[in-house]
Amino acid sequence: MERPTSISPDGVAYPLPKEKDYPKEFKRIEALAAEATKIGQEIVVVMGVGFVGAVMAAIVADTTNAKGKPSKFVIGMQRPSPRSYWKIPVLNQGISPVKAEDPEVDPMIRRCVLEKKTLVATFVYDVLRLADAVIVDVQLDYAKNELGNVRNGHVDMVALEESFDVIARRIKPDCLVLIETTVAPGTTEQVALPAMRKIFRQRGITAEPLLAHSYERVMPGRDYVASIRDFWRVCSGVNEEAKKRVVKFLNEVINTRKFPLTVLDRPIESETAKVVENSYRATILAFLDEWSLFAERNGVDIVKVIKAIKMRPTHSNIIFPGPGIGGYCLPKDGGLGVWANRHILGFEDDTFRITPLAIDINDTRSLHAAQIVRDALRNMNVPIASAEVLILGASYREDVGDTRYSGSEILIRRLTEMGAEIRVHDPYVDRWWEFENQEEYPNQGKAVFFRNQKKLKDLRVLKDLDEAVKGIDALVLAVRHSQYLGLDPEKIVESAGHPIAIIDCFGILNDDAIRRYFELGCEVKGLGRGHIQRIKDQVRRSRG
Ligand SMILES: NC(=O)c1ccc[n+]([C@@H]2O[C@H](COP(=O)([O-])OP(=O)(O)OC[C@H]3O[C@@H](n4cnc5c(N)ncnc54)[C@H](O)[C@@H]3O)[C@@H](O)[C@H]2O)c1
Repeated sequence: MERPTSISPDGVAYPLPKEKDYPKEFKRIEALAAEATKIGQEIVVVMGVGFVGAVMAAIVADTTNAKGKPSKFVIGMQRPSPRSYWKIPVLNQGISPVKAEDPEVDPMIRRCVLEKKTLVATFVYDVLRLADAVIVDVQLDYAKNELGNVRNGHVDMVALEESFDVIARRIKPDCLVLIETTVAPGTTEQVALPAMRKIFRQRGITAEPLLAHSYERVMPGRDYVASIRDFWRVCSGVNEEAKKRVVKFLNEVINTRKFPLTVLDRPIESETAKVVENSYRATILAFLDEWSLFAERNGVDIVKVIKAIKMRPTHSNIIFPGPGIGGYCLPKDGGLGVWANRHILGFEDDTFRITPLAIDINDTRSLHAAQIVRDALRNMNVPIASAEVLILGASYREDVGDTRYSGSEILIRRLTEMGAEIRVHDPYVDRWWEFENQEEYPNQGKAVFFRNQKKLKDLRVLKDLDEAVKGIDALVLAVRHSQYLGLDPEKIVESAGHPIAIIDCFGILNDDAIRRYFELGCEVKGLGRGHIQRIKDQVRRSRG
């Protein structure tokens, strides 16, 4: 039988390790850790080297003591799944497994792996035996069984519970275990602590596990590293000793002098803070959805309205929602709270009304975007079925290459269902896994909520904008990437070869550009941009 492989985003196939590789690999890491201990370095295992863990591991590995010498030796530990194993050999070459727009990420990982030699990656769980501290950065997904109904879903606890088991069976009794994963409130004290305590007792350890929680506020993008290292943190521990240890650890690795720590009494408070933080953001975005629709139907430009309101300092964080609210966190974190209320904390009644509603609104906003694409094409006498539609932007927000839960995905799925032919362009995204792998991970994707999705597995992200525009019927501005902010209407229509439908989903077009598109014979529509009709009438009148 052929040996299973894990394929990196640039197409290199790495064979997964065999059973016999494990003892050898453990010996390799053990020897490196022994050297590090000899020179006084603390051994830190980071479990899960994904978007958060890979960069957090590098930040810890870059830590120096008062004399400027590296003070931590970091082992990035990643399970060898076909989906993720490639991250290990890639990291060990000094290459970041996450593509980042932040110029600090690549040199930091290279420096720690190849020069300082304070960062190494591995697949063996047994390295947990060597740890003075373990940081848990594995994912915790919220599975939704229905589109637009977050209550019909569940937290996928299995992998996280397995991690607690794996850790408790191996760590030294006085090892600090810091959970950074965004968890359902109650997880640290009511799931992790009893599970680990039980295993400690089986191992004859009478001490309490030193469990702590401190959540990540990382923002992948230009300030990736700073959003972890130079940013405020909240933390807590299951007892005084755990609290003391986590405070000491974070003081050593994070810039807490400039960004002081907030220490809360109990982990459930730190866990709740994270979930509330993201539910708050999801809610202010969802709240604008109805006003965006109101604006669109009543001659109001929501973009100008928001700008006017923002002048008031108390309202400066009001934001325009694009075509759907994505990223890994906002679509799921509120769901963790709703689920925990019943399944960890045991409440039968419905405490939550606003949080799930906000997520449901955000999850379905892009369906309305698809409707205005259909309507704009109809006004050009082009039926949506078989129209060539170009989507500008695949990622969930501007100037990053992260496509997780992006609004563009739902938009594309709905347009495809209606028969449109889709092209997509994005300067930051090379492969769009949510489509390419939709058949391999059917339960995790959104394809199941739509019909006619099969051909989307062949969707490839285009890189040449001029080429992409050739022959299209509609152009959808879906993400505020800097490349899309100042597009020239003349050039777009010239490249398309004829007047087209322009759909602005993110408040990108200014009034001059909208007017120019109309003058060139195009149709223009936009989410929340009711004033467009006025500009259209003006252009028509001026033509007589
Ligand atoms: N990405 C963000 O922007 C962001 C921001 C703030 C908080 N968070 C939170 O941080 C956590 C991690 O998110 P992420 O974006 O890094 O996820 P990710 O999927 O990129 O990375 C998780 C990694 O953990 C690995 N893993 C899973 N189970 C494992 C196990 N038992 N042992 C070893 N490795 C294992 C996976 O293979 C994967 O590589 C989540 O709880 C997330 O909500 C993420």
